[in-house]
Amino acid sequence: MCGIVGYIGKREAAPILLEGLQRLEYRGYDSAGVALAHRGRLRVTKAAVRVGELRTLVGEDNPAPVGIAHTRWATHGEPTDVNAHPHLDAEGRIAVVHNGIIENAEQLRAKLIASGVEFASDTDTEALAHLIAARLRDGAETLEDAVRGALHQVEGAYGIVVLDVKNPGEIVVARNGSPIVLGIGDGEMFVASDLAALVRHTQRVVYLDDGELATLKAGDYRTSTLQAKRTDKTPTEVELSDEDYQLDGYADYMRKEIGEQPEAVRRALRGRLDERFSTARLGGLRLDPRELRSIRRVKFLGCGSAYYAGQIGAGLVEELARLPADAEPASEFRYRNPVVDPETLYVAVSQSGETADTLAAVQELSRKGGRVIGAVNAVASAIARECGSGVFLHAGPEVSVASTKAVTNMNTTFAMLALLLGRVRDLSVADGRRIVEGLDALPDHIEEVVRTQDEPIAEVARKFAEARHMFFVGRVRGWPVAREGAQKLKEISYVHAEAYQAGELKHGPIALIDPSMPSVVIVPDDELLVKNIGTMEQIKARGGPVIAVTNAQLPEGLADAELRVPRTEPELDPILFGIPLQLLAYHLATALGRDIDKPRNLAKSVTVE
Ligand code: F6R
Repeated sequence: MCGIVGYIGKREAAPILLEGLQRLEYRGYDSAGVALAHRGRLRVTKAAVRVGELRTLVGEDNPAPVGIAHTRWATHGEPTDVNAHPHLDAEGRIAVVHNGIIENAEQLRAKLIASGVEFASDTDTEALAHLIAARLRDGAETLEDAVRGALHQVEGAYGIVVLDVKNPGEIVVARNGSPIVLGIGDGEMFVASDLAALVRHTQRVVYLDDGELATLKAGDYRTSTLQAKRTDKTPTEVELSDEDYQLDGYADYMRKEIGEQPEAVRRALRGRLDERFSTARLGGLRLDPRELRSIRRVKFLGCGSAYYAGQIGAGLVEELARLPADAEPASEFRYRNPVVDPETLYVAVSQSGETADTLAAVQELSRKGGRVIGAVNAVASAIARECGSGVFLHAGPEVSVASTKAVTNMNTTFAMLALLLGRVRDLSVADGRRIVEGLDALPDHIEEVVRTQDEPIAEVARKFAEARHMFFVGRVRGWPVAREGAQKLKEISYVHAEAYQAGELKHGPIALIDPSMPSVVIVPDDELLVKNIGTMEQIKARGGPVIAVTNAQLPEGLADAELRVPRTEPELDPILFGIPLQLLAYHLATALGRDIDKPRNLAKSVTVE
């Protein structure tokens, strides 16, 4: 949420910063800004515009070799020109860009106003600029000391980059709860909130930890703690390159990432299916068979689509391992004083590894001695580090705000976890083998859906593009699939979509069925087929159009449209049935002319509460 970039070196900073912002725009896109320091002057350009327009405002002639930049998702203060970052102190000496939320901003603001400071914006960040400037006026010897002193007064989460126009030979960065990565170049240094902005320039990176600061000079960096203890971090090499973030001819990242799913799932499965013993190998869990057997219950925690994936995971664990399992939004779990059970395996689910609510749930579990593992996509992210053990999702970088390949890899990973938990219990060799074979075939099945169903689904989407409301209906295995389908549709198309358990429809929501309310019904060819056919008949009897997502032979004329999926093992249906729903949401949003990768009000990675 929000993107930060900084540069110090020998090249012109502006194009590097703007290109970096473009890469981070998926993290927030309601305003953007740049501060450049050159020959004792600070040049700040910021506005409630997207990065493309900011580029025009910044213009061409910018020799400054140092600068900081930001793309914003508003938290404190509306998305206006003045509230855009960077924020300055009254003298225009210090510029700050900030991700996160300063919780005691109101108190700090009141104190500063009482001491005569005038605020230009409504943001929590501006207080930081004033505090740092005050420290320098009060005799702090270095910018780092001034930042450190200011941060001692601050409560909350931050990733910040600070520039002092009187000392443009260095920039200072700090992290507490909001990611900051340094990119180590040759005679130049980069900083960003996300690798996406760095990998074009360098693969050598340093991840700051919470409570850590760094001072960057063109040829040098130094890391230390808030208590001024040196940490001497050394760089690690990342495997990602600029190519991983290219659109490769696709119109948008969402469609590209839907198409990448066969390969993403192959990566998630690689080396983890054990054909000999019909089980899965998940070494990152660091649990031996005895420990695996001691687990009495599994609870998945995540937010949004990660929570729905957790619900699919819970179903798989119950089916394959015969263990009680459930999923809960991490945003609820963290606030309800949960009873933490030592025999429960808690699974924190997150693409970004940064989601504030999920991280807080993990921290609460750690404090209470709960056994928590991560199912995380972003390596070295806060949740992955806090969990210490778990399974990486290997989906590759996901840029589209609407999650697709990460969700599919979550589901696939949970099938492996369920298989492993099942095989140390009562899941037979034969059933284990069936699941191993089903998983092995999954990438090809996904490929088949994407290849053969794209155009038919686009046609269905065009046919129903007038609908303002839609139901998504599923039963048992199909229920979390329906929830995720509704979520995808509403977030990128703004069509009101609600998911219901099929059996619940007749207890109230069916009153809404009429010819203007299509229902997307999840109809796997399993033991509940007859029940789901009954649901479709009830909808049809009330004049409601039905879009069936199915691998079954349905009675002629029952569905107004069918989205077809290949047959797999019934337990794995929820993984495969999600794919056509992604395509449906995508094509419907496209038919409505929506901004697919940057849906309104949203941003990738919700790092605030
Ligand atoms: C929906 C979506 C969000 C995320 C949620 C959790 O398409 O992307 O609902 O799933 O914000 O994000 P992560 O997985 O990064 O914790």
